[in-house]
Amino acid sequence: SELKNIIQGIPKTELHLHLEGSFEPELMFEIAKRNNIPLDYESVNALKKAYKFNNLQEFLDIYYLGAKVLIYEQDFFDLTWAYLTKVHSQNVVHVEVFFDPQTHTERGVPFNVVINGIKKALEKGKEELNISYKLIMSYLRHLSEDDAFKTLEEALPFKHWIDGVGLDSSEVGNPPSKFINVFEASAKQGFKLVAHAGEEGPVEYIWEALDLLKIDRIDHGNRCLDDDKLVQKLIQDKTALTLCPLSNLELKVIQNMEDHNIVEILDRGIVATINSDDPAYFGGYMNENYYETAKALKLNTTHLKQLAINGFEASWLPLEDKEKHI
Ligand code: ADE
Ligand code: ZN
Repeated sequence: SELKNIIQGIPKTELHLHLEGSFEPELMFEIAKRNNIPLDYESVNALKKAYKFNNLQEFLDIYYLGAKVLIYEQDFFDLTWAYLTKVHSQNVVHVEVFFDPQTHTERGVPFNVVINGIKKALEKGKEELNISYKLIMSYLRHLSEDDAFKTLEEALPFKHWIDGVGLDSSEVGNPPSKFINVFEASAKQGFKLVAHAGEEGPVEYIWEALDLLKIDRIDHGNRCLDDDKLVQKLIQDKTALTLCPLSNLELKVIQNMEDHNIVEILDRGIVATINSDDPAYFGGYMNENYYETAKALKLNTTHLKQLAINGFEASWLPLEDKEKHI
C-alpha cells in the first residue's frame, strides 16, 4: 500500500528495543535444541499461542523463560544479528538497544559472554549494514538496588562499550526511587541514563525518574498527559518519550490502537518517538509499529516524518550525524 511504502521510505531510528524481546520463536527453538535445553512448549506454534498477555507481568514471565536458552557468546551474537538484519530491511539506520545482564548472570552466564556476543553483532551491523548503534545496560527493577550495583561493577571492564543504563521489568511497586544511588553511581561513570516510567505505573514514577534518577529520556511515559505541569517540563527540557504502540496494545496499556495518546503527545509539542520494545512478542518491528499507529490514528505524512525526525533528535548520535536526518 501507499502508506507502507511511505513508512518504508523514511530512514528511522529505534531507541527502545530489548534484545531479549527480539528473540523470535524459530531462533529460540534452534538455540534450545543446540544447547540441549528443554522448552516448555512443544513447537513454535504452541509457543506463539502463549503470546497473549493481560498485563506487563504476564509478558515478563514468558520473556524471562525464553531468555533461558541463551548460554554461549554465539547465542547472543545470533540474537542480535537476527534483529539487525530484520530492521535493516525496514530502513532503520540507527539503533539504541537494551540488554538485561541480570537475566543471564543470575543463571550463571558470565557478563563478558553476554556482552561479547552482542558487541560483535553490533560491530558487524555497523560494517556490513551501515547501522550505527548505542548499547544500553538495563537494571531489573524487581531485583534489589544492591543487585544493580553488582551489575554496575561487572560492567565496568566493558564501560567503553556501554553508552547508557536503563531500568526495566515490573514497574508497579518498584518505583525509580528504589534506584537513586545506583543511578547516581552510573552517572559518575559517565553513562547516560534512561528509565521505563509511566507504562503501567503512575505519573509520579515519571517525576521520580526525572527528579531523582536525573534521566535524559523516558521509556514509554504514556501517563504523562495526566499532569499538565509534567507536560510543560517535558516540552521545556525537550525530554523525549520512547513510545511503543504495539507493546501498549499487547500489554493492555490501551484497549484499542485508536485509544493511543501519541497524537495528543505529539501535538502538545513533546518529543515523541515510535519504537517496538519487544517485537518478537508483540507482533511487529518498526514498520509495523508505524503502520498500525498511522492506520488507527489516521496520521498524515507530516506526523510520520516528525516521528522519525524526533527519533534522530532524541538519539545519542553526535550533532553532525543528527543533522543529516533532521
Ligand atoms: N522488559 C522488556 N520489555 C519491557 C517493558 N515493556 N516494560 C518493562 N520491562 C520490559
Ligand atoms: Zn521496554
